[in-house]
Amino acid sequence: MFIDVPKVPLPGPRTLPWIGPKLAVLRFLLDPVAAMFELRERYGELVALSRDDPSFVCVFGSELNRAVLSKPNLYHHLFESPVRIPAGNPGEAFATNIIAQNGEHHRWLRRMLMGAFTKQRLRGYAEHMVALTRARVASWTCPGKLQTREQMTTLAREIAMSCLFGLSMAEAGNINRDMVELMDLVLSPAAAMFPVRLPGTPYDRYLTLGEQVDAELRALIERRRREPPGDDVFSVLIAARDEAGEPLTDIQLVGQATTLIISSYETTAMSLTWACLMLATDPEIQRELGDEVSAAIGDAPVTLDDLERMPLLGWVVDETLRLFAPTPNLFFRRSTADSTLAGYELPVGSTLIVSPLITHRDPETFPEPRRFLPRRWDGLELGPYDYIPYGVGIRRCLGAGFAAQAMRLVLATMMQRVRLCVPAPLEINYRPKGVVTGAEGSVELELRTPAQGVAPAAAITGTIDRLVELGA
Ligand code: HEM
Repeated sequence: MFIDVPKVPLPGPRTLPWIGPKLAVLRFLLDPVAAMFELRERYGELVALSRDDPSFVCVFGSELNRAVLSKPNLYHHLFESPVRIPAGNPGEAFATNIIAQNGEHHRWLRRMLMGAFTKQRLRGYAEHMVALTRARVASWTCPGKLQTREQMTTLAREIAMSCLFGLSMAEAGNINRDMVELMDLVLSPAAAMFPVRLPGTPYDRYLTLGEQVDAELRALIERRRREPPGDDVFSVLIAARDEAGEPLTDIQLVGQATTLIISSYETTAMSLTWACLMLATDPEIQRELGDEVSAAIGDAPVTLDDLERMPLLGWVVDETLRLFAPTPNLFFRRSTADSTLAGYELPVGSTLIVSPLITHRDPETFPEPRRFLPRRWDGLELGPYDYIPYGVGIRRCLGAGFAAQAMRLVLATMMQRVRLCVPAPLEINYRPKGVVTGAEGSVELELRTPAQGVAPAAAITGTIDRLVELGA
């Protein structure tokens, strides 16, 4: 991740030579939310993590988003596994993942994957999403407590296993368990900093899990090839052919499978957790949403067509992703040539950090930016670079439609059965983990029946107040 680039005049905090710049990057990675708020406040729209050092530079706001994201050949996606993989280890398949590709190969891979996310495919996934949510909601005791983060994570995993791999949780068994553990180690500093394969070390565990996941996915590929064509994402990828009739190789399939899991379920689970919390803190909006869902679908299983008749539902999701963009910064970009941004000359090899977190708090585009106001979306007109929870352009999230429909279907199904409340003071802190920032702890809410209605929310404290102003 670190390469040598010549110093140039750039605003930013002073750091010590040598260790300073690395420490600045480490601090950024540990809490990108706090770092970006502070840097934006003190230095403006372009700021180096370490003064005059173009190794890591934040660019803030729609104009600079456009300047960087509209030029994917000049600003390459930077994704390197922080953990070293020995040559010949099955973990090398991870390097074939779409996030790590650029240029023509990235476009080719994207075309291969896009077939799994067409409108028609999304329609098929919707049925699984609703059935799994109905079953999960039915397992809750109401009135009772909801460990929101755990429940949303389990549900998002069930949806991922079913729609991405065509597996129930019982069938997914080892794949699910190993992938979840592997994901936790992908960005583990311990595995990255001590890459010596000794029994019991995180690095050894990482490589062992990589080998297991590789074997499990290859067995699944074999099985799928013997069966009639399935309609899950992985089956569509196995059957995909390019213009020349070529399929993805097994290594490429394994690489994409791990990426799909990594990009899909934690982002969705965290967004759902925040959405539930926001509804619980805003009884008025929750009441209106409950009424909207009840008028549109009653008790019937919600379908994709129903979503069009529930605008508030869509705005609740949009507003949640505005305030709590699961990736506060997009994947880093590295310049492939000298370039100029906001009047500053940046040498080839500069690394740029683009931020949905800061973009979404521009008061010109979003008045009262720190408040949760779903109705602001009614008739709101946005430029393409003003709202970027999924990124924008040729690197835009491939699963954006999948995620947006999953979140709306889940919330609508929940509103058919339960109401969410904060009956007693609650401390909520955000927690950066890898590239995703979510909530820490369980986010315990009270479940009530729709007939019981929603109660006013008790006070919420914690670092969440950096992300949203509650109770205004
Ligand atoms: C709330 C949920 C989600 C959010 C906020 C989200 C956000 C993002 C972001 C910000 C990027 C990178 C954009 C960039 O760096 O320019 C991305 C890429 C990607 N996401 Fe998502 N994502 C979500 C869910 C999903 C799901 C459910 C899937 C798959 C089913 C998925 C698959 C992907 C893939 C394959 C890429 C790489 C695209 C490329 O490099 O061309 N994501 N996502």
